[in-house]
Amino acid sequence: MSQKVLVTAGAGGIGREIVRAFAASGAGVAVSDIDVAALAALRAELPGIVTFVCDVGRRAEVERMVPAAVAALGGLDVLISNAGIGGPTATVEDFPPEDWDRVLQVNLTGTFDVSRLAIPHLKRSGAASIVIMSSAAGRFGYPSRSAYCASKWALVGLAKTLSIELGEFGVRANAILPGAVDGERLQRVYAGRAEASGQSLEAVLVAAMAGQSLKRFVDPRDIAQLALFLASDAGKSISGQALCMDNDIQKA
Ligand SMILES: NC(=O)c1ccc[n+]([C@@H]2O[C@H](COP(=O)([O-])OP(=O)(O)OC[C@H]3O[C@@H](n4cnc5c(N)ncnc54)[C@H](O)[C@@H]3O)[C@@H](O)[C@H]2O)c1
Repeated sequence: MSQKVLVTAGAGGIGREIVRAFAASGAGVAVSDIDVAALAALRAELPGIVTFVCDVGRRAEVERMVPAAVAALGGLDVLISNAGIGGPTATVEDFPPEDWDRVLQVNLTGTFDVSRLAIPHLKRSGAASIVIMSSAAGRFGYPSRSAYCASKWALVGLAKTLSIELGEFGVRANAILPGAVDGERLQRVYAGRAEASGQSLEAVLVAAMAGQSLKRFVDPRDIAQLALFLASDAGKSISGQALCMDNDIQKA
């Protein structure tokens, strides 16, 4: 029987590759995102999916989206909690408190909300899987990225806790910790780093590549394949794990 999958923030970046991978596997896929145009473009590409406009950082929207997605799918086997924002690049001393709140709201509280609403449906699956998108920032400290870093560490704790609470119900939970992933977000991060340090963007990019053993960033399609594997029968003995996908030399 084909899996029923919900992917948050699935209209772009890593999430979109995850949607493509599950759709290609024959799964029924519900996608939520804040970007209406990107959702429409993805529907045009993958007519079998259903989409929902939802800001994961707004509890009322999440409380509408999850039941609607489950109803459209006719159940839920896989939750991919992918939504996450970076927030500004600033030291703790200078970090705007309202940006701290927003990053924590989207990355951590939003993931909590999606999880708690999905759990009753996942318990009914019999072979369910939660994948939470953390980050290499959920394993190491990152100067000037405190809110992002703290939220991504917290997500590892959430995934581990979910695995313990839900194992007896046949629900597994794992976190994926990607390193530097090819895409628009990384370009924004490096632009912010250049601005904060006073270096040129080119110098920042050269320094970033020097730290990569494979001399390239992580392909988002590889993260999608890891999510697919974790949710598959082949991953049935993996729960409570924080799995890195990275080739960072310093942080290996
Ligand atoms: N790109 C990387 O290098 C990298 C590395 C490690 C972890 N991650 C994590 O992977 C996840 C996806 O990252 P990405 O780089 O693909 O992101 P992205 O910035 O490319 O955005 C992906 C999607 O998220 C949507 N989105 C943004 N805010 C949202 C919100 N409040 N509610 C719902 N949707 C929202 C956007 O519209 C977009 O379609 C995030 O949790 C991120 O922290 C990314």
